[in-house]
Amino acid sequence: MIIFSQNMLIARAINELKAKKFTIGLVPTMGALHKGHLALVKKALNENDRVIVSIFVNPTQFDNKDDLKKYPRTLDEDTVLLKTVSKEKILVYAPTVEDIYEGNAVSQKFDFDGLEFEMEGKFRAGHFDGVGTIVKRFFEIIKPHRAYFGEKDFQQLAIIKKLVEKYNIPVKIIGCPIYRETNGLAMSSRNKRLKPEYKNTAPFIYKTLKVAKEKFGTKSANKVSEWVENEFAKHELLKLEYFIIADSKTLKPVKRKSNKKVYRAFIAAYADDIRLIDNIALN
Ligand code: PAF
Repeated sequence: MIIFSQNMLIARAINELKAKKFTIGLVPTMGALHKGHLALVKKALNENDRVIVSIFVNPTQFDNKDDLKKYPRTLDEDTVLLKTVSKEKILVYAPTVEDIYEGNAVSQKFDFDGLEFEMEGKFRAGHFDGVGTIVKRFFEIIKPHRAYFGEKDFQQLAIIKKLVEKYNIPVKIIGCPIYRETNGLAMSSRNKRLKPEYKNTAPFIYKTLKVAKEKFGTKSANKVSEWVENEFAKHELLKLEYFIIADSKTLKPVKRKSNKKVYRAFIAAYADDIRLIDNIALN
């Protein structure tokens, strides 16, 4: 498996693959890979001749310096894991900040038609400008036919679809279901940092989402939100940041339920200083 750290070299390797009419899938990651990432890589391998896995902790999408500093960086373990999936068909792109940003690690400003102002956008200033900047840069360097993103970051997925539409980027964006531990906790690179007592209690997030879904069948969005907020208020370790039921297209919070619309519930909660997010389809 070849690991590239320079954009010019990976771009050249990809041009050679494309000259052979190979199709290219991209799985962008920030490393600390887990089974959820591997599921994306496997899907990408099924649908493309070669798969590029980018591993880059993107500084411009972190609003919290401490979170950036503590984000796990495990390139050696990551490549060992990827080799268990395929040695020949995966190329890793693990650039430096300099290689990506060429001395100017700042975000471009984007207009994602309002998607960027909801949920994560409210609590993580500049986050989606950072995500948009890096993903657009990867698309320019790698020019993949398809790119794969997990639905755990559902808002990010919606924003990337919008990015591609607005900039006419010729890539198919493929969303993949959330991959969970057997106890229901959504897989995340941040889970690696959870202390045991928080790891044990974090599945409460998904359990609550599942009950919220059931309640949404008969109750209003407000009533369901109140119930979730109360459940978290009683919880000793987890601190709720938000629970929102939103239209899954516009991501705007639901005011009055309509059976013509598709809804999703979104949650962000702190386990100690670690911020966890999850979501669930409601209808
Ligand atoms: O979802 C992530 O891991 C990151 O936001 C992404 C898409 C790799 C961009 O840095």
